[in-house]
Amino acid sequence: METMLFSPYTIRGVTLKNRIVMSPMCMYSCDTEDGKVRNWHKIHYPTRAVGQVGLIILEATAVTAQGRISSRDLGIWSDEHVGGLRELVSLVKEHGAKIGIQLAHAGRKSEVDGEIIAPSSIPFSEKTRTPKEMTKADIEETIQAFQNGARRAKEAGFDIIEIHAAHGYLINEFLSPLSNKRQDEYGGSPENRYRFLGEVIDAVKEVWDGPLFVRISASDYHPEGLTVKDYVPYAKRMKKQGVDLIDVSSGAVVPANISVYPGYQVPFAETIRREAEIATGAVGLITSGWQAEEILRNGRADLVFLARELLRNPYWPYAAAKELGTTIPAPVQYERGWRF
Ligand SMILES: Cc1cc2nc3c(=O)[nH]c(=O)nc-3n(C[C@H](O)[C@H](O)[C@H](O)COP(=O)(O)O)c2cc1C
Repeated sequence: METMLFSPYTIRGVTLKNRIVMSPMCMYSCDTEDGKVRNWHKIHYPTRAVGQVGLIILEATAVTAQGRISSRDLGIWSDEHVGGLRELVSLVKEHGAKIGIQLAHAGRKSEVDGEIIAPSSIPFSEKTRTPKEMTKADIEETIQAFQNGARRAKEAGFDIIEIHAAHGYLINEFLSPLSNKRQDEYGGSPENRYRFLGEVIDAVKEVWDGPLFVRISASDYHPEGLTVKDYVPYAKRMKKQGVDLIDVSSGAVVPANISVYPGYQVPFAETIRREAEIATGAVGLITSGWQAEEILRNGRADLVFLARELLRNPYWPYAAAKELGTTIPAPVQYERGWRF
């Protein structure tokens, strides 16, 4: 059967062999605090490439040491990170997958020792530390750190960059009125709350001409928070700035009870795709081939992002192909002795 899931997809000159994306997932696997690639990363990511995932997006990778979620996060805050990342990139590419990196800053959700920063001095919850309100100099430095991260990602050979603007981390903290109470040009109106993300995108685009994705949280699940309606104009702005795809997640700006079920975030991806006329990725409890195919064929998203299902089964694309009644090429090694 001709499927959409296994049809190629070209975005800004980069062709993915299928529409299956490994969603970014922190592995908390740097055994020291240096943020460098370890054996775990060199086994974990290439395994999904052998499994025929079209695009693998590396976990949230910190643009500053202070911007890590945990002290075991991968980092890209120094030129010393480039070597390990370059090796990882080549290991993944060797097996026919494309590889992206998620550039991140944890903001007030950082759990590393020392000062934490955010747009306003409000903690995430009663259990977390109170961040320092960022000065203009902090803002400039952080934008510069995203740009440096993008330059290093290019040096390491990544195909795609994704900016992490979701899940209540720093950029999301600027976007949401729940975490941004600033009185200056970075807070207040929707336009002002967008300014930080807008400047990060421009800074990244100065050094990066490849495909650029942005991950958003399309709902704060809070009466005074942002909803997908607020993200449609933001998505239009991103498109104008040259963002190629919005990876549509949700939540985690403030603690909230979220009712989750298969495809619960897909309507957000669909709304943004239709109303902002930009490519989207759908994510969240996508586990079967037909579920993925439905999302694509009904024009609800352009790519499907899988996280936990690819932890359970790195060879999920083979299972999905079987379910959809199609076959996909296997690594040549599988064909050598016995028919796969
Ligand atoms: C172990 C783990 C780590 C994660 N780390 C990240 C991350 O670094 N960046 C991110 O944007 N989302 C992260 N997520 C969220 C996933 O990318 C995905 O959006 C979420 O798990 C829903 O998809 P799923 O139902 O297919 O797992 C993580 C999820 C898991 C399970």
